[in-house]
Amino acid sequence: MSQWPDTRLIDLLGIELPIIQGPMAGATNSSMVIAVCNAGGLGSMPAAMLSIEQLRDELKTIRQHTSKPFNVNFFCHQPPAADEQRARDWKNLLEPYYRELGVDFDAPTPVSNRAPFDAAACEVLEAFRPEVVSFHFGLPEKSLLDRVKATGAKILSSATTVDEAVWLEQNGCDAIIAMGYEAGGHRGMFLSEDLSSQVGTFALVPQVVDAVRVPVIAAGAIADPRGVAAAFMLGAAGVQVGTAYLFTPEAKVSAAHHRALRTAKESETAITNLFTGRPARGILNRVMRELGPMSDKAPAFPLAGGALMPLRAKNEEQFANLWAGQAFTLGKELGCAELTRQLAEEGLVRLQRH
Ligand SMILES: Cc1cc2nc3c(=O)[nH]c(=O)nc-3n(C[C@H](O)[C@H](O)[C@H](O)COP(=O)(O)O)c2cc1C
Repeated sequence: MSQWPDTRLIDLLGIELPIIQGPMAGATNSSMVIAVCNAGGLGSMPAAMLSIEQLRDELKTIRQHTSKPFNVNFFCHQPPAADEQRARDWKNLLEPYYRELGVDFDAPTPVSNRAPFDAAACEVLEAFRPEVVSFHFGLPEKSLLDRVKATGAKILSSATTVDEAVWLEQNGCDAIIAMGYEAGGHRGMFLSEDLSSQVGTFALVPQVVDAVRVPVIAAGAIADPRGVAAAFMLGAAGVQVGTAYLFTPEAKVSAAHHRALRTAKESETAITNLFTGRPARGILNRVMRELGPMSDKAPAFPLAGGALMPLRAKNEEQFANLWAGQAFTLGKELGCAELTRQLAEEGLVRLQRH
């Protein structure tokens, strides 16, 4: 669609519609990616919660079912040093819940499963050569990034401030995801830990556009065609949409998450670090209200999640992360392909009216 006011992103990535389905670890599998790619957008396969074997299987399935470009997404945090005292203190804080739910408090604590990008994951990319690779929490070390670039993949990463956007451009990103404070899931922040200075989408996008030369992808609270048109008006060359895809039949969401998305109010999301140790936006539930939503007791990412796992296995609604962005009440029950096309087609109509 050459009518878009900025075609740099669709040209760069070789896609028809400037709609990126946000990678959502735990909620996105290959069926979502395939549906979005075949509709003309960019499907994104999140790898953070997959083993290398599972990642290979998903990429194989994607290649079998679409010939379109797709994105593979990785976290690139530094694995934390073990801190047994902190882990003990954290579990002790949760002890009353273990007792209440009848969970064995003395059983070994499960290990939280969010893996950073590493050499083994890089080999998978070298084998499958996805057209796009996106990172969250900055970029991997240079030697690994060079190997990814050598596959020909275009590199994206999330910036939550102008400083992060400039850093990502200087360190080799081909396009920048400007992730506003409204967005669901983990904040991509990596140069600062100061949540109080995080910027909303409406303020962030034009300032990032002014600060970098590469195309900018707006993310955060874009859930319908109005948001798409607004993002382009602010200078974005594409959008990344996460939460709205949680309402599609292709999304893998628990019954509790599904219920919360359809019944909570827009004012009931918050940024919390309880579930993983890093700030992320989700729908408020009991554990967030009682221990947080932010707690200085939570172990470093991703370790905080381990001690919560047995609790969430008993009661998802009260103890699981229910990630969602602030615009979640705009979500509609549509298939992934239909949602992708609607965001683009109706977004473009709105843009052309102006
Ligand atoms: C359930 C959920 C899981 C997410 N997981 C990831 C992830 O694995 N990697 C990533 O880069 N972003 C992740 N995100 C962020 C999205 O890709 C996207 O940037 C964000 O959802 C955009 O804001 P929105 O939710 O308001 O649309 C996640 C978001 C949600 C809602």
